[in-house]
Order: sequence, then structure tokens, then C-alpha cells
Amino acid sequence: FEGRRLGVWAFRELLPVNTDDPVTMSEGGTGLHPCPRLGEELGVRELFVKNEGENPTGSFKDRGMTVGVTKAVELGAEVVACASTGNTSASLAAYAARAGLTCAVLLPAGKVALGKLAQALFHGARVIPVNGNFDDALDVVKKLADEGIVYILNSVNPFRLSGQRTIAYEICLQLDWEVPDAVVVPVGNAGNISAIWQGFLDLYRLGIIDELPRMYGVQAEGARPIVEAIRRGKEDIEPDPEPETVATAIRIGNPVNAIKALRAIRCSGGWAVEVSDEEILSAQRELATREGIFVEPASAASIAGLRKFVEEGEIDADERVVCVTTGHGLKDPETVMEVCELPEPVEPDPETIQRLIAE
Ligand code: F0G
Repeated sequence: FEGRRLGVWAFRELLPVNTDDPVTMSEGGTGLHPCPRLGEELGVRELFVKNEGENPTGSFKDRGMTVGVTKAVELGAEVVACASTGNTSASLAAYAARAGLTCAVLLPAGKVALGKLAQALFHGARVIPVNGNFDDALDVVKKLADEGIVYILNSVNPFRLSGQRTIAYEICLQLDWEVPDAVVVPVGNAGNISAIWQGFLDLYRLGIIDELPRMYGVQAEGARPIVEAIRRGKEDIEPDPEPETVATAIRIGNPVNAIKALRAIRCSGGWAVEVSDEEILSAQRELATREGIFVEPASAASIAGLRKFVEEGEIDADERVVCVTTGHGLKDPETVMEVCELPEPVEPDPETIQRLIAE
């Protein structure tokens, strides 16, 4: 692995597809940004942000979709589909367009951020808003997939998840094959935290790394079945029929990958915590103003969660921590504009402007 490049397909031999012609737009290769100012504020010596918003459609979903859609083509699928809180639909719509496949996306009506909706519509997917939440929409897509009507690209698809393992491969590569002490991930349907853990296990089994990180999951207060199961020492979750949070990406009450995620968190010696909407929004702003990194609310949950893990003594001040930020801030401009004040226009004369700058 010496001299290895970044990017999903740079790890081709670890991916479960056999092709020289993947459906790709250069996924992965996202920055692992040192964040000393925010780290100091949160009380950790070495904080890195793995910023998945830098992917082609602006979220980590592209790592999975490039592999999943390549597989769909290989299998001869004609119609691909997913349920989504937004990012999966944006990503699938783009990759389906590139592969020339028909694409259907089922979205919880009125609960998808504007940027994601625009992406799914503009890439030409059949956008189907449903009365219900993400979990209801996923149930329908799973039924259609079972009947062979669509090829499903939600995180029940193992090919998609294997693409997301590359987040772990890249983190190790970017740290010169050293392993972070803790990796903090926002959790919704729970596929990503499971996939990242599997990625670290892959490298461990291959003898490329000789330690494993602790995996930490963060959920929103109003959608936290995984956190409850971890806290109560349960083998499985109790679904929440009415999940609610400003971080619409993780507004999920019945995560399909729950059991895998619980194992990842427990086997690695990690933990899980919930954060309030206020904590999410203030972490989002802190990351933007202190480090210049603009992420969507769900992604900021990892930063808000880290603060709690440090306060609760789960993560120590002298540890090396990676927070995974999962989607770009421009995905959800409405939430941001609600907390920002747009100043009134003024005349473009230097004196007025100078006065305003000095204010
Ligand atoms: N962060 C963002 C920005 C997401 O879009 C998602 C999931 C997650 C975190 C959670 O990842 O589901 O693997 O635990 N979004 C899905 C979607 C559900 O439809 O876009 P997870």
C-alpha cells in the first residue's frame, strides 16, 4: 500500500466488482483537514475533519453509488431506486443519469433539504414524494426490490456499502497508515458507521494496520434508536415511529443497519450519544467560522457529539480524533438562512462601506 493514491477506485482490488469501466466521477479523495482551533475549543489535541461534502454530488453517498451503480449495470438492471432523506437520491439520480438507467427516488414529502431536491429533479430522476417518513418510503422500495421491479440502492445493498469502506482506507492513508484513536460519525440508517468500521477491519486483517479505532455514533435527540440501544445494552433497537430533527438527513426512526452499527460501536469499544437541534446548529456554525468548513446540519452532529464525548470522558484530550462530515453545507441553504440576518442594501460609496466594516 506504499505510494497508494486517494479515491474510491484507487482501492479497486478491495471492491467487489470486476470491471475496467466503472460508472465514476472521481469519488473520494476528500480532504482530511487538521482543525486545531476547533480542536482546542472542544478539548482534543488532534482533531481532523474528513470532509465528505467534497464528493461529486456533495456527500459520502457517491463512494457507495459509484460501486453500486457499476454493479447494477453489470447485473443488467434497468430501473434503479431508493428511498432517501435527500443525499442518496441526489447521488443515485446523478449516477443513474451517467449510466443511462431509469431512476426512481421516494422522498418523505416536505422533509428534504432544497439542494438535494434540486439535484434529484435536475438529474432527471422520477421524484416521488410520499406521505410518511423515510422508514415508510424504504419499506415500499424494499417490497418493489423483492418483487424484482427495481434494483435497490439503499444501504441494504452490500455493493454500495463496500464503496463507503474506502472512507476508512483513505483516513489511514492520509495519516501515513497510522490509526486514529476515535472516529466520530453521524448515524441515520446506520450504514455508514458500519461500512467505515468494516473498512478498518479490512486493513487490519490484511496486516496493513495493527490497531483499530473506537467508533462513535451521533444521533439527533428526536431520532435516536441506536443511542437508546447502546445505553441500555440492547441487542437490537426499538424503532421510533415519529423521528424529528432539523438535521433532516438523519431523520430516521428504524435504521436498517442497526444491528451492524451496534456491533461496530460495541466491538470497537466506542459509544453513542444524542445531540439537540440547537447543539447541531451551533456546531455547524463553529466549524464554518473557526475552520472554514461548511457542512450540512447532519454532518455537524459529529462535531456536536465530539463535544459531549469529551465532556463525558469517553474521548481523552490527548487522543487523535477524526470527525466524518458527511454532506456539504450548500445542500441545505434554507436552514442556514433562517439563523443568518441579511443586511439591508446600502449605496456603493467608500465612506459608508468603511463605516460598516468598522462596526
Ligand atoms: N449524514 C448525511 C449528510 C446523510 O445524508 C446521511 C444519510 C447520514 C449522515 C447518515 O448515514 O444513513 O449511513 O447512517 N442519508 C440517507 C439518505 C439516509 O437518504 O440520504 P447512514
